[in-house]
Amino acid sequence: MDRLDKVISSQTEFSRKDVKKLVNERRIKVNGILVNKSDIKIDPKNTSILIDNEILEVVQNIYLVLNKPKGYVSAIKDKKDLTVIDLIPEKYLSRNIFPVGRLDKDTTGLLLLTDDGNFAHNITSPKKHIKKVYEVLTDIELTENMIKKFKSGIELNDGKCEPALLEITGKNTALVTISEGRYHQIKRMFGCVGAKVLELKRIKIGNFILPDDLVEGQVRTLTNLELIKILDN
Ligand code: URA
Repeated sequence: MDRLDKVISSQTEFSRKDVKKLVNERRIKVNGILVNKSDIKIDPKNTSILIDNEILEVVQNIYLVLNKPKGYVSAIKDKKDLTVIDLIPEKYLSRNIFPVGRLDKDTTGLLLLTDDGNFAHNITSPKKHIKKVYEVLTDIELTENMIKKFKSGIELNDGKCEPALLEITGKNTALVTISEGRYHQIKRMFGCVGAKVLELKRIKIGNFILPDDLVEGQVRTLTNLELIKILDN
């Protein structure tokens, strides 16, 4: 269920304030009935909304997966660098899509983009504990002691991290699972145990793995099943 004013403002030029005004002017009908409040809850998929007796076609949100290459910043605009939006085909750009969280300019892999603010919040909010898995290459050999330190919560200058899972896969390679998304978090965590991250790639969010047929720089829409997997931990 969504708020009527949010649904209308996401689909039209009207702000939520405008919607309130339209409601007060008795210009909005929901399922054929004039409404007197703009914040009522509706199911946009099964509700007809009329503005001045014209049907509002509710277009569903857009959800994209990108295999991010190096060299692109996770932003909508940047003064000097290319952004991930530069990799998105024109046909998806009619909506206000934005990256869900950030990957550093030199980090590669799984990045989601959407125009759905609630969805983005559910993935990035540390309170939701959605797990993110990264492949890491470091400059020094990884140790059992590092696993213990990650597990007990690395102390960063902006506070202690939640316990993280460090799985060593080779001398200098590992998988790291975190459920937060602080600024440069993985690089700073390794910094605290004396290691430098040379390569970083995100490969999983929730239970959704970066599809191996999605080459670097490529983007495609997500299926409903994939959306469920992302939010499923
Ligand atoms: N942690 C980092 O340090 N960088 C990223 O891009 C993602 C997580």
